[in-house]
Amino acid sequence: MRPIPYGKQFVDDSDIRSVVDVLSSDWLTQGPNVCDFERALCQKFESECATVLSSGTASLHLVGLALGWKAGDVVLTTPITFLASANCILYAGAKPDFVDIDACSYTIDVEKLETKLKQYDACGNRVKAVVAVDYAGQPCRWESLRQLADKYEFQLVDDGCHAIGAKYKTVPIGSSKYADATVFSFHPVKHITTGEGGAVLTDNRELDEKIKTLRTHGITKDKSLLEKNDGPWYYEMHELGFNYRITNIQCALGLSQLKKLDRFIKRRRQIAAYYDGIFGEDERFIIPQTTPEAEHAYHLYPLQIKFDDISVVKDVFFQHLRERKIFCQVHYIPVHLQPYYRRRFGFKEGDFPVSEEFYKREVSIPIYPALENTEMEYVGAEIVESIAEHCLT
Ligand SMILES: Cc1ncc(COP(=O)(O)O)c(C=O)c1O
Repeated sequence: MRPIPYGKQFVDDSDIRSVVDVLSSDWLTQGPNVCDFERALCQKFESECATVLSSGTASLHLVGLALGWKAGDVVLTTPITFLASANCILYAGAKPDFVDIDACSYTIDVEKLETKLKQYDACGNRVKAVVAVDYAGQPCRWESLRQLADKYEFQLVDDGCHAIGAKYKTVPIGSSKYADATVFSFHPVKHITTGEGGAVLTDNRELDEKIKTLRTHGITKDKSLLEKNDGPWYYEMHELGFNYRITNIQCALGLSQLKKLDRFIKRRRQIAAYYDGIFGEDERFIIPQTTPEAEHAYHLYPLQIKFDDISVVKDVFFQHLRERKIFCQVHYIPVHLQPYYRRRFGFKEGDFPVSEEFYKREVSIPIYPALENTEMEYVGAEIVESIAEHCLT
């Protein structure tokens, strides 16, 4: 049996051909595939604008800057996410705070969000933005979030890095129907890959223009914006930007991968359905819930195992599976408990109990398009066996 990671890219001959073609073209960095990939993303996800960038983290960074986050602003997210969802708040100089997750969907608890918004309002400190994460590929309650955003006047960002191919009320994540901007990541464990890469999708043209300028050092060549024009070589820097460009080579891969997205999602859902069948009726486990309004994209299959109830040590369970070449992961260590966040902001254990309990139980078990049926069955059987073998009661 080959090693089985929790997630992995699927790259085939057509992807390789697309990349090799670019290598023999004139365009390695910026080139036609960049705009083509942006157009293809707009079409696939029903968005007016898209900007592709060097990573999901860079995308979140520029969204915060383009939305004008600054010192004194408060921006909220959830503890069960990758660090980048919270770090982007710090990059802009704003203050991060958290809202606990909902115990069923593992996405932001909308009722707790409203309580927190009221608390900030009562202190005269309005929340500037919310970064809501479609954790594991499960869309947040976007309609309710939009209503709150309108009522409390905050900017709504969809961290959709896990949800490429997911839908909420038949609308693709990325459409910007509910959020002001959506961020994707094309890291190899995600649904489609460009090696490293990311994108911001939005219907707001002004926001999109700002992000495109910040992507390349804050430089503009747009004649209508120049303060003067010395000649065809001339450009001006109007903002402090970055080199967050993605290459023509990477975008060729992205374009080729995007064509396979529906197939990838179908396979992820098949695997999830198999795991649901294995673990769904067993009270030692809690399987990820889906809601009728959302179509899950299963970037992850977050299985909860009631380690405390059945007296199994999580560490021992992991070791057992690793010895059998099954490499699970945990998503995520709650961000507020990271030493940096504790030290700088005083967060502590007990602040977000649902997230902390979820962290103790969560195990991301292998799910990716290239996972074969025999491997998926092996994973299911080994997990059940490991629990039986290490149960101390
Ligand atoms: C929820 C979430 N947001 C943001 C990111 C950052 O994306 P990238 O790794 O492309 O920088 C990730 C990556 O794992 C993620 O899972």
